[in-house]
Amino acid sequence: MASIPPMDVTTRDGRSVRLRTIHPDDALAFMALANAIAEDSGTLGMSGGELTYSEQQERDMIQSWIDDPHALVIVAEHIGRDGVARLLGDCSVRPGPRRKMRHHVTLGMMMDRSWRGVGLGRIMLSRLLDWCAATPGIEHVRLQVYASNVAALRLYESLGFRQIGTNPQYFLHPDGTRHDDLTMALWVKPGLAPAGLQTWG
Ligand SMILES: CC(C)(COP(=O)(O)OP(=O)(O)OC[C@H]1O[C@@H](n2cnc3c(N)ncnc32)[C@H](O)[C@@H]1OP(=O)(O)O)[C@@H](O)C(=O)NCCC(=O)NCCS
Repeated sequence: MASIPPMDVTTRDGRSVRLRTIHPDDALAFMALANAIAEDSGTLGMSGGELTYSEQQERDMIQSWIDDPHALVIVAEHIGRDGVARLLGDCSVRPGPRRKMRHHVTLGMMMDRSWRGVGLGRIMLSRLLDWCAATPGIEHVRLQVYASNVAALRLYESLGFRQIGTNPQYFLHPDGTRHDDLTMALWVKPGLAPAGLQTWG
């Protein structure tokens, strides 16, 4: 069962945030957040409103991530003055779909616009990479990112991810524009990274 102990952090602008493992009760809020960020940012593989699972389907999916020893979804949550918790973003890894691909995991992350640029993404991704390094059987972390996504590229490169592939015109937007996608990777176990690629830690 994959989980991390909850962790309270303070953003660079002084707001307090709790990082914790996702829970099935997050299902509706998580789908709403993902749809909103997809709509707002244009830099996720999914489009706004594309997540249309029922609450039960999403709860089951979240439970399957919790049950998988090679998956971890960390969410950031802020408790407002009214005591109401609000999901701000997530940082996740999930294993490849086949037994021969379970030694690597695929990373995804997103943050509500009003909480970007204050250090949360870096803290969450570092915590996630520490967990991957400590988890038996996970050798490397892969991700796909829009070639034009400067903020994400800077974050990934600064933590050691390097480009391992390009997917030209991978995304076709409704306005007819085509966008390249990059594949990046970072190894998390010593002695395995191919020449020129990095190992976390
Ligand atoms: C990518 C994303 C998750 C980063 O999260 P974040 O919480 O804003 O990240 P941080 O505040 O920790 O910033 C991490 C680094 O990213 C880079 N960065 C962040 N915002 C930036 C900006 N506006 N311009 C350039 N670089 C930026 C910086 O290198 C920064 O490091 P620093 O703060 O030490 O200088 C966030 O921008 C996001 O949700 N984007 C929309 C969804 C998305 O594109 N997800 C990635 C899919 S691959």
